[in-house]
Amino acid sequence: MGILSKKTAFVASILACLIANLEAKAIPKPWLNKNLPEEKRVELLLKEMTLEEKIYQLNQLVKGSDKNENNVNMWYKSQKINPLNGSYLYASQSPEMRNAIQKMAIEQTRLGIPIIFGYDVIHGLKVISPMPLGQGASFNLDLVEQASATAAKESQRMGLDWTFAPMVDIAFDPRWGRIAEGYGEDPYITSRFGEATVYGLQGRNPLKDLPRPDKIGACLKHFVAYGASEGGRDYNFTAVTRNDLFNFYLPPFKAGVDAGAVTLMSAFNDLSGVPTSANYFTETEILRNQWGFDGFIVSDWGSVVQLINQGYAKNRSQAAKLALEAGTDMDMVDKVYIENLEKLVQNNELDVKVIDESVKRILRIKFRLGLFDNPYVKIYPKEERYYAKEDLAIARKLAEESFVLLENNNNTLPLKAKNIKTIALIGPAADDAVTMLGPWRGHAEPNKTPTLKDALEKQFADNIKIIYQKGCDYKKRNLNLDTEKLAEADVTIVCIGENGKPSSENNSRSGIYLEGDQNKLIQEVKKHSKKVVSLLFTARPLELETIKKNSDALMVTWYPGSEGANAIINVLFGKVAPSGKLTATFPRYVGQVPIHYNRRNCARTGGQGNYRDASTKPLYSFGTGKSYTTFKYSNLKLSNNEVSKGEKITATVTVTNTGNIDAKEAVIWYITDPYATITRPRKEVKFFEKKLVKAQESITYSFEIDPIKSFGYYDDNGKLILDKGEIILQVGNQKAKIMCK
Ligand code: NOJ
Repeated sequence: MGILSKKTAFVASILACLIANLEAKAIPKPWLNKNLPEEKRVELLLKEMTLEEKIYQLNQLVKGSDKNENNVNMWYKSQKINPLNGSYLYASQSPEMRNAIQKMAIEQTRLGIPIIFGYDVIHGLKVISPMPLGQGASFNLDLVEQASATAAKESQRMGLDWTFAPMVDIAFDPRWGRIAEGYGEDPYITSRFGEATVYGLQGRNPLKDLPRPDKIGACLKHFVAYGASEGGRDYNFTAVTRNDLFNFYLPPFKAGVDAGAVTLMSAFNDLSGVPTSANYFTETEILRNQWGFDGFIVSDWGSVVQLINQGYAKNRSQAAKLALEAGTDMDMVDKVYIENLEKLVQNNELDVKVIDESVKRILRIKFRLGLFDNPYVKIYPKEERYYAKEDLAIARKLAEESFVLLENNNNTLPLKAKNIKTIALIGPAADDAVTMLGPWRGHAEPNKTPTLKDALEKQFADNIKIIYQKGCDYKKRNLNLDTEKLAEADVTIVCIGENGKPSSENNSRSGIYLEGDQNKLIQEVKKHSKKVVSLLFTARPLELETIKKNSDALMVTWYPGSEGANAIINVLFGKVAPSGKLTATFPRYVGQVPIHYNRRNCARTGGQGNYRDASTKPLYSFGTGKSYTTFKYSNLKLSNNEVSKGEKITATVTVTNTGNIDAKEAVIWYITDPYATITRPRKEVKFFEKKLVKAQESITYSFEIDPIKSFGYYDDNGKLILDKGEIILQVGNQKAKIMCK
């Protein structure tokens, strides 16, 4: 472009802005009246919108990398950003930039519709909590709600309105890297943690709480059954029976919708022949017609266009039509709605009413989030925005409660600082802040995250010598260990696992063995150390037989987050007793997968049907988790051992801390329905509660049983049924029979 034409273009763009500005001011905007009901405001605005303006609302653009034409930063700087777009993703580097972009939407477009800014805040934005699989192991809903509230507050301070969390996909296959992002293999547990996350992000009463400046919109993902990917391969086909869909995969979404989640994300997977991003049955019949969800669905990244790869749509235009008609309201990244919807309407291939419905849903949520009434975020002084002390304390407590102690031979743990002069600290994760944080770490700063080495050196600067050696990498075969240095130490702490990346999106593995020389490392360490404490940094189950054999104590620390190192020290040295329990089974070998606890029974008993060459038992089963004390369960009682539909009974159990250390105990209540119209899992969690039980104290845990909720299940049409007959209730080693009449 020559200099003159550049100048002309510049003048023209200024004029266009001025005109838009004048128009924007000239148009009466009755929908801005806060006193009108949400629906009325939506209706008034929709009436004014042109088809183009409507279609832009259905479009989400991404910041992308620097060279990407979609780069919001570049657009913003060159003022070429199109403020008509309904949403931006990753436009979150600063609240100032977000407000400036928002100003363009409010002041330079005809109708002044605010943009919704979204970003993946999966387990924190700056203050990072443990990975969700670790959060589930904490069995502490309050802490998860509080940590999610931190995430919401920090997100608002960075200029965000919306996050793509929680992920409530049930996963049975540890080869699937994204098992890390959910709460494990149980639908009840996943439902409760999904709900707690929604409460933390949005508040308990979304209509009242969502416009608050410390709350953001949640997004339940990935709708639905994405975690069932064949062979654990990401983005792949999922063969899911209707029965499993209704009983395993849908319930956590239903719980999240009931908790008020304002959005859902469709998924990448082809669900038994109909890809989820174009699945009318799940998106419209179930979610909207049966459950009454009134928010919007955003596609996953490019999942509309991927309908072509999946062999479901012939071209981009058909993909857009199929996805929108099924109920996917907003297209993430691909601009496929922008390119095609207008033409589809003109050619009478798409009813404009379908577009209107999607626009309504998006506007409704923008009103609910308070974006029309207060489109800008408050700008806090830089030093006050993130990393508040109290938020770090929540992350630390959650990490402490998430750790799962798998082995503790001869009471190796807790360590007694006064008896220790030297610690050998070994392993690739011992001085690695990135692994501490794990995948999806928002905008966390690794240099503000102490590693275990940093934290040990700081806390014990005066009294314990720390001898650190990396020993080997995570993946490379490069064992390099000075074993003489181990002999000097009173205890060797080994930090092994997977570096943050492998447990996340597009990180499926064919095996779940520890990579590189890590197994060799532990064997060498064991030969030369007095005592070995192994810490496992992972967010997927791994094969641990070698580690188990060569450790005196073994604890899963997941990716524990910003305060992970301090939390580890508190647990290792007994300030806090470990109280986490596994919500995903750890198999012995990958060949045992699927080996989730809630499988169905085998036709033959007596071991028939088992593998000839391997055990059928996992190495660590669902619910495993030791403490520094022991708990005795006794006196399981029922208020009545018969119950009918519409009645409730209460079960109580006494839990005694028989040791000398105060500790928390998560009590997990299971049921088994031995004979049912449609066969049921061998065992199912129906309730859990975690409490502190002081040394030598006995306390009562109770479970109020509503037979429909606890014994009911779905048939293949999604109808909730309740069989008459016997149910077995189990808690710890206690069992009772309940007759459902
Ligand atoms: C793709 C992932 O599947 C999804 O979970 C995430 O929210 C989006 N990308 C946006 O980053």
